[in-house]
Amino acid sequence: MSFKDKVIYQIYPKSFLDTNQDGVGDLLGIQKKLPYLKKLGVDMLWLSPIYPSPQNDNGYDVADYTAINPLFGTMEDFESLMAAAKDLNIEIMLDMVFNHVSTDHEWFQKALAGEKKYQDYFILRDQPTDWVSKFGGNAWAPFGDTDQYYLHLYDETQADLDWHNPAVRDELFNVLRFWLDKGVKGFRFDVINVIGKDQVLQDCPENDGKPAYTDRPINHEFIHMMNQATFGHDPEVITVGEMSSTTIENCILYTEPQREELNMTFNFHHLKVDYQDGKKWTQMPFDFEKLKELFHSWGTQMSVGNGWNALFWNNHDQPRALNRFIEVAEYRVAGAKMLASAIHLNRGTPYIYMGEEIGMLDPDFDSMAEYVDVESLNAYQELIAAGKTEKAAFEIVKAKSRDNSRTPMQWDQTTYSGFSETTPWLPLGKTADSINVEKELTEGSIFSYYQQLIQLRKEYPVISEGTYQAFLAEHPAIYGYLRSYQDQELLVLNNFFAEAVVIELPERFMKGEVLINNYPAAELTKELVLKSYQSLAIYR
Ligand code: GLC
Ligand code: CA
Repeated sequence: MSFKDKVIYQIYPKSFLDTNQDGVGDLLGIQKKLPYLKKLGVDMLWLSPIYPSPQNDNGYDVADYTAINPLFGTMEDFESLMAAAKDLNIEIMLDMVFNHVSTDHEWFQKALAGEKKYQDYFILRDQPTDWVSKFGGNAWAPFGDTDQYYLHLYDETQADLDWHNPAVRDELFNVLRFWLDKGVKGFRFDVINVIGKDQVLQDCPENDGKPAYTDRPINHEFIHMMNQATFGHDPEVITVGEMSSTTIENCILYTEPQREELNMTFNFHHLKVDYQDGKKWTQMPFDFEKLKELFHSWGTQMSVGNGWNALFWNNHDQPRALNRFIEVAEYRVAGAKMLASAIHLNRGTPYIYMGEEIGMLDPDFDSMAEYVDVESLNAYQELIAAGKTEKAAFEIVKAKSRDNSRTPMQWDQTTYSGFSETTPWLPLGKTADSINVEKELTEGSIFSYYQQLIQLRKEYPVISEGTYQAFLAEHPAIYGYLRSYQDQELLVLNNFFAEAVVIELPERFMKGEVLINNYPAAELTKELVLKSYQSLAIYR
């Protein structure tokens, strides 16, 4: 299975479909919707964590890597889901959270109880560093009633593992073997570029300590070891690493095939272009120049360096891209299609986050009482402590909370939108009645646009294999690029704004074929008009 012509669909299991009416999505719910996903045309389903967990970070705090959380069902349910998916030629990608375990995990509990063997699984120090947790506050917490501290780059209940310990690596590689034996063909590795800490940890006042533990050279060695010990032997397996605050140079190293690390990487630079001074808990209109520059530098350098990007606008940690980049009140549909084209025709493997294919929006919650995410709750407290009014703090959380994308999938217009018959664990978005699958499939056009994009990737090697070059790099409104493969070329033009613009179409494309367009057919003239959020792909 080459990963270049595939499209992967991310499911947040808690919010997809609830079949036993407890308000939480489950594995049987995913199985039930397989025909829908087949209709869309995706090749693989990435499931956010489904393992036993106290759910302090919605499953990214794993308490047992080789079991199913009863909240989601049983191992039989998982096997049945996988078999049913395989019947439809859809594979499963599991989320592997290998930087840390839940403090409920047996390893941490045994460590706390004094077992030396398990204490060596964690990063314990007498003297903590000045690093700041990514969820706010100190990154170190007292280790039981000893005088030591354990490192937690995330929540206090997510204890970082010590990858230098060969016993830890063995345990984790066995986890991969367990799931490979079950027929799992994909792995998404959570924050995998911070697993390799240096042996001597240093204070680092810069950027909350990130440079001290991110993309360290040893990190590449650990990933290579993991590849060689497990999935590296099966060319059908697809791997993607989530890279926090990374660089292009490192992502080329992680994905250049000869290095045998991973197939592709997620990076988040393009989703920080609406962060003021690089800080998440602020509000600012997105900076198009920066976005374009990032797309071009990543696109070009990964192409030249033979690296591979995972392409995405949305996931379970991001507010919906439509709310960030598009004037949705007027242009939700055209905007959704333009954003989709911008990445699906690009060089890399596209990911669709559930609901994106019907143009779902942020939920528009009315008060802090509706938010549950640990990061949002901490951020709100920190904003208040920093002197913001309740209203101002709420507005920021509302724009930035991870809960924005975690609300239940909007299936139809019944109570709870067909997600469940009972109150969902997180409230539905306000637009559930107007934006839902049932409506989209009867009168919408976003879903069918995604279907087309997915098929185009399978039909045209220029999309799956072609090189990347910037086009009109200086234009203030157009994100354009050129893909080339053998004697074929594809020119993709995306207008990121509501104002129409005119560009000069190169001669050789005037007789080209329009592969996809989010407006009715247009003539290819030298002076080409691109309407509000128009996206056009011309093949020759
Ligand atoms: C990743 C996950 C996020 C989680 C964090 C810690 O960024 O996507 O949801 O909170 O890692 O595991
Ligand atoms: Ca359920």
